[in-house]
Amino acid sequence: MKVKRILWSVGSIICLLVLWAGGVIDLNALYDYEGERIPSYIVHHNIPQHNPITNRGATLGRVLFYDKRLSLNKRIACASCHKQEFSFGDTFRISGGAFGPPLRHTMRIAYAGFKAEPHAFWDERAKSLEDQATVPIKDHLEMGFSGQYGRPGMDSLLRRMRQIEYYPVLFEFAFGDTAITEERIQLALAQFVRSIYAFDSKYDSGRAMVQSDTVDFPNFTEMENHGKRLFMTLPKDGGAGCFRCHVPPEFGIDPQSKNNGIVGVIHGGHSIDTSVTNAPSLRNLFDRDGIELGPFMHDFSLKTLYDVMLHYEEVASKPPVPNLDERLQGSENEIRLSEYDRVSIISFLNTLVSPTIFTAEKWSNPFDENDTLEIVPLVTAVAGPNEDDHSPFVLRPNPCVDVLELGMDRSWKVMVFDRRGRRLKEWKGHGRVRVEVQDLPRGLYFVRIIVEGEEAIVRRMIKL
Ligand code: HEC
Ligand code: HEC
Repeated sequence: MKVKRILWSVGSIICLLVLWAGGVIDLNALYDYEGERIPSYIVHHNIPQHNPITNRGATLGRVLFYDKRLSLNKRIACASCHKQEFSFGDTFRISGGAFGPPLRHTMRIAYAGFKAEPHAFWDERAKSLEDQATVPIKDHLEMGFSGQYGRPGMDSLLRRMRQIEYYPVLFEFAFGDTAITEERIQLALAQFVRSIYAFDSKYDSGRAMVQSDTVDFPNFTEMENHGKRLFMTLPKDGGAGCFRCHVPPEFGIDPQSKNNGIVGVIHGGHSIDTSVTNAPSLRNLFDRDGIELGPFMHDFSLKTLYDVMLHYEEVASKPPVPNLDERLQGSENEIRLSEYDRVSIISFLNTLVSPTIFTAEKWSNPFDENDTLEIVPLVTAVAGPNEDDHSPFVLRPNPCVDVLELGMDRSWKVMVFDRRGRRLKEWKGHGRVRVEVQDLPRGLYFVRIIVEGEEAIVRRMIKL
C-alpha cells in the first residue's frame, strides 16, 4: 500500500513537472546554438558574414518558427509543415497551408545551412535563406499575409507582432532595440534554420577517424563501406557517382547541379517542371527508428530509396528531359548496379542519420499546449538569500522548509522557476500571504516578483 502511494505521488510530481515544462524561455539560460561543434572536415556552408548564428538570434528564430500567430488565421506556423520528427520536413505529399496547399512537397530543412548552394527552394528562386524566410509568410496560400486580393500584407503582421507581449522583449534581446521589421524576422529565422545541424552520425564518427571519404571507415560494416565506395565512385569506374551532386562530407547539393530527370508536377497532369535543381541534404533521409522519410523528390514521385536507385540507373539511357544535368546523360554515365549494390548504397545513406535532430529541445516547440509563452527576463543581478532584508517585498524564511511568507501592500505576482527555467509555481495576491512549498524538491530556485506597475525583480530561494 505504502509503496503504491509513494509511486503515485512520484508519478504525479513527474506529471506536474511535464505539464509545467512547456511555454517558458529563460533569457538567462539559452540553448547553445552558436557554439555547437563543427568538425574540421566540414567545409561547405552558406552562413553569410552579416548574419552569423547567435544564441540570441536563434532563440528569437525558434519562437518565430513555431508561432502560429505569424499566419493570417493564426493556425499555421513554419513548424506545421517542417516537423522536427521528420528532420524538419513532412511525410504528407503536400503540407496544408493556412488557405491551401503549396505546389511542391515540403523540403527537409535540417542542414540547410551546410550546403555550398546559397539559394533556397527546389528551384532556387530565393537568393538566400534570409530571402526565403518571409516568402511563406507572404504566400497567399501558405501563411496568407500576401497583400493580394484584399488580404493584409506584411505591415499588418508587423503591427500584430508589436502587440504580442514577448516580441518587443525578444527583438530587443536579439537586436538591441525593440524595432520589429521584416529584415530582422528574416535574419532570426535564417539563424534558427541554419542552427539545425548535428554532426554525430555513424558516418561522422567514421569520418573523424580517417583522412578522406574515399578510404574505408573502421566503424562501418562491409556493406556500408561498399555502399560508400559506390556513392563516391564515377559510373565509368563502376560506381553510382552520387557524390558529384550530393557533395560529401555535408551531402548538400552541388551549386552547379541541373535537374535530375524528375520533372513531375503534383496535381499537374501531364505538365512538367524542369526547374528543380536543388535538393535537401541527404543527411537524415530516415527517421530515428530507421524508417525512410519518403516518398522523395519535389513531386513526391519516388516512394522509396530503392525506387530512387532505380531512377538513377535508368535516367541516362532514356531520352533526356530539358535542363537534365550532363552528368546523368550518355553511356559513360550509365549506372549498373546489382541488388547487393543498391541495398549497400541505402545502408550507407542510413549511416548519415543524426538522432539528435529529431529530439533536441533547442529546436523543439517553445510554446505550451495553449500556444502561450512566458519569457523570464534577463537578470543582471540576483539577490542572494540574505541580501533582501531591506526590500519592501517579504519573502521569508529563506532558506525555507514548508511554508513561505510573501507579499507587500500592493498587488503582486510571484513565479517560481527551477534552474532550467521551468516555471513550477505561480501566486498572485495583494498584501501578505503564507503559501505551502512542501512539494518543491530541495534545491535552488529563482523567484520572479512583479509588483504592480514596476519592473520585475528576481531573487534566489533555497528550499531545504
Ligand atoms: C504550408 C507548408 C509550409 C509552411 C507553412 C512553410 N514551409 Fe518552408 N517549405 C515548404 C515547401 C513546400 C517548400 C519547397 C517549396 C518550393 O521549393 O517551391 C519549403 C521550402 C523551405 C526552405 C528551403 C530549403 C532549401 O534547402 O532550399 C526553407 C529554408 C523553409 N521552407 C523554411 C520555412 C520557414 C522559415 C517557414 C516559416 C516562415 C516555412 N518554411 C513555412 C512548405 C512550407
Ligand atoms: C546531376 C546531379 C545529381 C546526381 C549525380 C545525383 N543526384 Fe540525387 N538529386 C539531384 C537533384 C537536383 C535532386 C532534387 C530532384 C527533385 O526533387 O526533382 C536530387 C534528389 C535526390 C534525392 C531526394 C531527396 C529528397 O529529399 O526528396 C535522393 C534520395 C537522391 N537524390 C539520391 C541520390 C543518389 C543515391 C545518387 C547516386 C545514385 C544521386 N542522388 C545522384 C541531383 C543529383
